[in-house]
Amino acid sequence: MNSLSANDHGPIGVFDSGYGGLTILEHMLKVMPQNDFIYFGDNARTPYGTRSFQVVYEYTLQCVTRLFEMGCPLVILACNTASAKALRTIQQVDLPKLDPTRRVLGIIRPTVENIDSLTKTRHIGLLATPGTVKSLSYPLEIGKLYPDIEVTGEACPIWVPLVENGLAKSAGTDFFVRQHVESLLSKDPLIDTIILGCTHYPLLIDSIRRFVPEGINIICQGQYVAASLQQYLERHPEMACRCTMTGTRRFVTTESSQTFLQQAGIFLPDNARLDVSSISL
Ligand code: DGL
Repeated sequence: MNSLSANDHGPIGVFDSGYGGLTILEHMLKVMPQNDFIYFGDNARTPYGTRSFQVVYEYTLQCVTRLFEMGCPLVILACNTASAKALRTIQQVDLPKLDPTRRVLGIIRPTVENIDSLTKTRHIGLLATPGTVKSLSYPLEIGKLYPDIEVTGEACPIWVPLVENGLAKSAGTDFFVRQHVESLLSKDPLIDTIILGCTHYPLLIDSIRRFVPEGINIICQGQYVAASLQQYLERHPEMACRCTMTGTRRFVTTESSQTFLQQAGIFLPDNARLDVSSISL
């Protein structure tokens, strides 16, 4: 771990391919306002959802390593695609070499742990990127905990580019949202709960609600991931005491900081005070 920060203490790193992880960070800030956070958006290389396993793994590892270099003892992959395609290898192969005392956690497990009480029909729908759907991470994780639940996935390749380009509220977006919601529900009419298995999708929630019939639950991950992080730190005081608590938030992006500031403002209302810097990998 020679090139990593020697500092044992630091902010919690929150990583996403772009702006989606802000929908997770928002909930973390609500329940853990004292903690320091660095948000890392790899906006220059987004989307990850249509990329191969190898590429998502390599990009994610680069970004996690950079967050370690910035002093983060703990990094949350606030990205389902990265959690599905890179988390396991990073935890098992890379962390022991980089620094076995640091931790990287994903967001799929905390999400699926909560679905049991939400579905009555035991038929769940998953809206996610092609990478997450193809990885089968959701049906596999759900199957381990609740083998009686049936999961049907629908890949929505165009939704992330719509969000990243600031088109979440446009009329054209409704067309693509409707297409995938209807396709999902036609594959399994018994679905009573839909997981938004991509952190960008809560940014499309108004449009999604227009096409999901009443009575079907829509699960956004933020609150579950934030609660799970809190519980993790309670169970791991040795990590909790390494996470600094001065209430600071920093944002880094592989795009221009100006672009990040404009777009992130759509998602985080007090953008005027955002401390954003651009980095190259
Ligand atoms: N926000 C990411 C996720 O949760 C993926 C976005 C992308 O395709 O880059 O899957």
